[in-house]
Amino acid sequence: MAEYAWPAAEKRRLIGTRVNRLDGPEKSTGAARYSRDVKRPGMLYAKLLSCPHAHARITRLDVSAAEAIGGVATVKVIQGVGTEIQWAHDEIVAVAAETEEIARDAVRAIQVEYEVLPHFVDWPDLATAPDAKPGEEETAGDADAAMAAAEVRSKGRYGLATITHCCLETHGQTSEWRGDELTVWASTQAVAGVPGQIAEAVGVPAANVRCITPHMGGGFGSKFGPDRWGVVCAELARETGRPVKLFLERDQDQAVAGARPGFEAEIELGASMGGDIEAWISSSWGSGGPAGAGAPPLPYVWKFPNQKVKHTSVASHTGPARAWRAPNHPQACFLTMAAIEDLAAELGMDPLDLVLKNIGKTGPLAPVYEAELSKAAELIGWRAAWHRRGEGSGTVRRGLGLSLHTWGGRGHASNCEVVIYPDGLAEARIASQDLGVGTRTTIGLVLAETLGIGLHDVKVSLGDSRWPASGASGGSTTVGGVSSSTRRAAANALEKLLAQVAPYLDAQPDQLEAADGTIRVRSAPERSLTFEQAAAKLGVHPVTATGAQPGPTNLIDSGVGGVQMADVSVDVETGVVRVNRVVAVQDCGLVVNLKMAESQVYGAVIMGIAYSFGEERVFDPGTGRLLNPNMEFYKLPGIGDVGEIVVHMMTGPGYDERGVIGLGEPPVISPGAALANAVANAVGVRVPHLPMTPERILAALQKGGVA
Ligand code: MOS
Repeated sequence: MAEYAWPAAEKRRLIGTRVNRLDGPEKSTGAARYSRDVKRPGMLYAKLLSCPHAHARITRLDVSAAEAIGGVATVKVIQGVGTEIQWAHDEIVAVAAETEEIARDAVRAIQVEYEVLPHFVDWPDLATAPDAKPGEEETAGDADAAMAAAEVRSKGRYGLATITHCCLETHGQTSEWRGDELTVWASTQAVAGVPGQIAEAVGVPAANVRCITPHMGGGFGSKFGPDRWGVVCAELARETGRPVKLFLERDQDQAVAGARPGFEAEIELGASMGGDIEAWISSSWGSGGPAGAGAPPLPYVWKFPNQKVKHTSVASHTGPARAWRAPNHPQACFLTMAAIEDLAAELGMDPLDLVLKNIGKTGPLAPVYEAELSKAAELIGWRAAWHRRGEGSGTVRRGLGLSLHTWGGRGHASNCEVVIYPDGLAEARIASQDLGVGTRTTIGLVLAETLGIGLHDVKVSLGDSRWPASGASGGSTTVGGVSSSTRRAAANALEKLLAQVAPYLDAQPDQLEAADGTIRVRSAPERSLTFEQAAAKLGVHPVTATGAQPGPTNLIDSGVGGVQMADVSVDVETGVVRVNRVVAVQDCGLVVNLKMAESQVYGAVIMGIAYSFGEERVFDPGTGRLLNPNMEFYKLPGIGDVGEIVVHMMTGPGYDERGVIGLGEPPVISPGAALANAVANAVGVRVPHLPMTPERILAALQKGGVA
């Protein structure tokens, strides 16, 4: 019976070390072909006509002028006369042409008229919302009585703007038919899931559709399905009998292909003089487009003895919400941790002490948080550098802030096939995808570790739906899923190899082990073959074996905690913030590749800095249009805005035994809260809305009377 458990600490050669990306050279030299780079012989280019209005009915549509343009292959109406459009930039017509330029010209030549209908995009003003759905009030204890009896109370209004995913590679795919078989090169988080969805939409068996995605440029939760434009692309290709490439233009991508809902909340907290938090009352509302927005998990991380939580979902005529890296957690975290920091200021307490005093109310993760708070405080020098809110003078003022977060991250269902070739190379095949986090390297590392060989002796084939299916990359489930299925498939393949080579070593298969690039007798390691010599005994037939997650033994777990602390300097005359340092302390069970794990956290903190200070979808209430659907006025940080990021992974005894847990989402949850609390600590007043632009910081200073 093959051994599936993760190797004990002293036996790990690669797991937990810092391993470079297998595809690093390919990516950094530009050789890697992303979905958007795909070019097929005879390929047509498709472009979309978007609706300019936030809410309108199509009254006239005439595509004849577009069809008449030379080089236009076909024009396809997606939403015809009579259709009511619910958000600006919604797609109306698709054109496929010989070049991108001709396709754009053809889109401009389409004549379309609308009856413009009343729109609503200004959702933070709840009072004017025409479609607001209050949810059930959730209560514990008696929040009103506990609040009234509390020795100290703190009340505030907080909010976050709607933001978008801003994937560097926009959404789209290239489609090519051969007879009734379709191949799509899609930019997707779900290589194994896309074929079935497209097949159903275009009316062919799922087996006839293949999805290929060797490299893709970011998804963050916005690329799970083929989308309507993906189906349209396949239809254009079928209609023209030619490959068709359809990727959204940047403005379309920013407007329709993903939004993280924005939220507003009024939050009141009640505590004893000593800082025992007894009561929480919150009323929140938010919008993520026509479907409104589900409730953020408030209060985040904590459960107080008395709480009353109410949420209202507000519909708006804005591009619809999609899952955004840890859906609703960053928002809930900011709302909660800002309110707790404000309570600490009211109590005259160091927020670290307030958090520690109430840490038991976070539940089973409390000991993890305690250890992480202690580590983070040490790394940022909290005890030496923290001061009371607003203590400080001069133009540039420094402050510290902190936050906690949690996430599940249990590995998804995954299948893997491992092939050991007679030349000694081992291949893992898996219909997973690498969103940029290093999935390929994770799989290769586990394969090499299990077979006792080097990383240069493994090949990883992913990003192709013809390999065994693995789940979508969502919910931080990929590394748990693929590392487990790869571990089992590799162990099963090794078992077969050992059975074949045992006679050559005069041993029974179960007396053999794979280690240090050899197959050897465990009790007499000098009796060995190199892995290559062993593989050569296979003759002409490779060994193949499969493995799956879930499987017979448990290699994964879920439930992590993280702590982040931020150190900022704020210029109180300009409102400009400089991020001095962010410390991120995170657990994720057994770390497969320390370098990539740290890289995940760096990326998440950078993304957090982006939504804390820059990112915001700005809608014009008058026209209902998105004013910044571009990379110029939709603000992302440059490297100079990021500051120093210190990452500390909690590993070793107490963490490793849990097995592998996903890491993609948790570290993006806390930055907004930690940075906003640091800004409040620096300038002496709460800047209640993210992103904390210079305007908002100066407005808060003015309102707070801080000179
Ligand atoms: Mo994620 S937001 O589950 O890709």
